[in-house]
Amino acid sequence: MMKKWWHDKVAYQIYPKSFLDSNEDGIGDLRGIIGKLDYLKELGVDIIWLSPVYQSPFVDQGYDISDYYAIAPEFGTMEDFDELLAEAKKRGMYIIMDLVINHCSDKHEWFQKALADPEGKYADYFYFRKGKDGKAPSNYRSYFGGSTWEPVPGTDQYYLHMFAKEQPDLNWENPELKRELFDMVNWWLEKGVDGFRLDVINYISKEEGLPYGNESVGKMMGYVGIEHYFYGSHLHDYLRELRCKAFDTTDAFSVGETPGVGMQMARLLTGEDRHELDMIFSFDHLETPGHTRFDDYRYDLNYLKQYYTEWMEGYGSGCWMSLFFENHDNPRMISKINEDPEYRFAIGKLLGMIQFTLRGTPFIYQGQELGAINGSFTDISQIQDVESRNLYEEFCRTIGEEEALRRILAGTRDHARLMMDWQEVCRQKNDRESIYYFYKKLIALRKKYPALVYGEVRIVHKEKKNFFAWFRELGNEAFYVECNLSEKQRKRPPRPEGFCPLLSNYSRIGSRMQPYEACLYRFKKEAAVCGEGSAKAPEGR
Ligand code: GLC
Repeated sequence: MMKKWWHDKVAYQIYPKSFLDSNEDGIGDLRGIIGKLDYLKELGVDIIWLSPVYQSPFVDQGYDISDYYAIAPEFGTMEDFDELLAEAKKRGMYIIMDLVINHCSDKHEWFQKALADPEGKYADYFYFRKGKDGKAPSNYRSYFGGSTWEPVPGTDQYYLHMFAKEQPDLNWENPELKRELFDMVNWWLEKGVDGFRLDVINYISKEEGLPYGNESVGKMMGYVGIEHYFYGSHLHDYLRELRCKAFDTTDAFSVGETPGVGMQMARLLTGEDRHELDMIFSFDHLETPGHTRFDDYRYDLNYLKQYYTEWMEGYGSGCWMSLFFENHDNPRMISKINEDPEYRFAIGKLLGMIQFTLRGTPFIYQGQELGAINGSFTDISQIQDVESRNLYEEFCRTIGEEEALRRILAGTRDHARLMMDWQEVCRQKNDRESIYYFYKKLIALRKKYPALVYGEVRIVHKEKKNFFAWFRELGNEAFYVECNLSEKQRKRPPRPEGFCPLLSNYSRIGSRMQPYEACLYRFKKEAAVCGEGSAKAPEGR
């Protein structure tokens, strides 16, 4: 695959609202981010992905944009943003923005004008449809509960919203809307941003006529109507157009958020010859099959092994993966795997080991480098997120309050949106055995050895349950990684000859593997120097 500037980089997602509050108004802000650029640089971060910072009524925490050209006053000013860009550049860092163009806010002037003049040009920027026999035009189910159709008061019209009713979907069939969106993307690129994360980008092409959704498909996939928009027939054309008319002008980087897209579709979206997206976020590994985010269950890491084995072997050499476990929409991974505090740091380090030594670009979500865990919410009044609140109402009607609360607390996005713990950062920076240091070392190793970025991945011992191991190989360089995926000790399979320990989450590498142990080894010709089986890990934990 042709080398790209973002292949050997490490990305870090910032959720501005809860990163750092510099003016003590209770909300994180751009100046807070500027003040922490050195922290991120020191950790080894190259690319910062900013969740939306545009003007917004914040019904969906900024994923409802009311002005694509303005910074939300809650976060600061355009001058602050420009300073952030300049300060990032000074440090050789890159800024990517969140691009929310499947929908906007109902307070955006386009939607306001559409409401004011249903015959005017802006009405066609959205999906307005007549109801059928006093009911919604179709049976699509919204991601945030209820129907995707909201009646327009005083008319027989409804408008489409896949998410909250305050987030009307944009009609990509309309060439003028597309032109306005491309102009806006170019405006930000000219300003100097280095790329975009594209919010639910695989939903932008809806099937003509928005036909009724098949109820059984909806049951299987969780949302009625999904087959008519989650991978629409014009998706590839739209993405190519966006690429040609915007991203290509500055070699900008693009990563698409594409829920529900499996590996084969991902290949079509990201293949280097396809000219569409550089990478995607696929979410199939965030829950084990048969479970949803709102199930209170224990995540089995054997599934993660199966998932990565499939993608590492099947995605193809012309595609490049994003490697991530967390974002602002999901509970913390450590909490999903095992809530016993005894294992918190071992699991955090194990996840880091997987994320930084497989093939792809790692994305850290703020706080992950400290081993952040879920919040200890006990009541619905503590939950702010619109999705959780809407679904709670819906669940209460079907399964009762107690069970509704249990489900919401298992899956609420607020777990990931708690304020970043800067005191914990200080503590971990002073502790050489902290998860922060482990991440820092992993990132440094990834930067030092090209085999950890570009090397072939060869997964071994596939049949062994609770054990995940692979080689990374490039020219004369080779690395070996072995992980115990469970809290039980296990016998360590023989270490391949010539490989010496480089980094481990335990201080000794004995004949038995410790709970969630993860070790990285490097091939050395003079292997005898590191002895057999129980060598001491030279770089400690
Ligand atoms: C994406 C965002 C999520 C948001 C939704 C609607 O999934 O990550 O936070 O609520 O899109 O914009």
